[in-house]
Amino acid sequence: MYNISYVDGIYQNYENSKVNINDRGYHFGDSVYEVVLFNEGIFYDFEGHLNRLFDSLNSINIKFSFSKQSLKIIIKNLIKINRVSFGSVYIQVSRGIAERNHSYKDMNIKPLLSIIITKKQNNLSDEAIGVKAITLNDNRWARPDIKTTQLLPNVLAKTKANNKGAFEGIFIDSEGYVTEGSSSNIWIINNDNEIITRAIDGKILSGITRKSIAKFADLNDLIVKEKKFRKEELYKSKEVFLSSASSFVTPIIEIDNVKINNGEVGEISVELRKLYFKNFTK
Ligand code: PDD
Repeated sequence: MYNISYVDGIYQNYENSKVNINDRGYHFGDSVYEVVLFNEGIFYDFEGHLNRLFDSLNSINIKFSFSKQSLKIIIKNLIKINRVSFGSVYIQVSRGIAERNHSYKDMNIKPLLSIIITKKQNNLSDEAIGVKAITLNDNRWARPDIKTTQLLPNVLAKTKANNKGAFEGIFIDSEGYVTEGSSSNIWIINNDNEIITRAIDGKILSGITRKSIAKFADLNDLIVKEKKFRKEELYKSKEVFLSSASSFVTPIIEIDNVKINNGEVGEISVELRKLYFKNFTK
């Protein structure tokens, strides 16, 4: 049996997995999510992702009754029955099912949990492949720090990037500073080898991969600074890379047709990628 997902208590083939038409996630994007990668029984930053799921639920007042432990059991079950060795776990919790009404005041509804396991092409190689990116205006709502499924600006940005042959769209705020990627955090490395990423200032998602990279870099005597940087600094940086659960550390070698590091993958980005993997090896 393959392609089994979990929807509201039911393990089912993708084709037969159903979510009610009145699910608030479908109507309003009234739901939160997480993505975690795994490889042969090892989860990358599992605790961090599960903790953030509960933070997201709290921040939009979804009263969810599952414990972290029960989520882990369902996820491990799913991986086993799907017989996947390398892949991703997608967890979504919506506020629940109710007749369409913007307000959820006095709605006595049960949150709806769905989990999908996707088999992926193994991208764990230390030898990172560099990608291209474009920049675009950050036109998202004022709370991009909450990991909700309300992702239309991100969807449009990523598609625009892909249409231009790029992998990622990098958002720039109204003052000209980089916020983050459409589905990643953005980092630069300057000529003093300082590794810089925007602070958690409410304008970006607090990336779980970002946090681990900063920790591992610090433990290895690399200098990490949290501060804002401008779009022009991106072009002039020694190295630029992105981080996310699904891309780990991925070097960016061209932005808006400007080559970074002569279009080559940079050494420090590769080192950080290796450090990240090393910390999750058995
Ligand atoms: N995206 N910023 C945004 C807007 C994101 O969507 C993501 C993750 C990140 C990186 O966060 P983390 O390191 O915790 O994955 C930053 C996931 C992978 C996605 O939407 O598929």
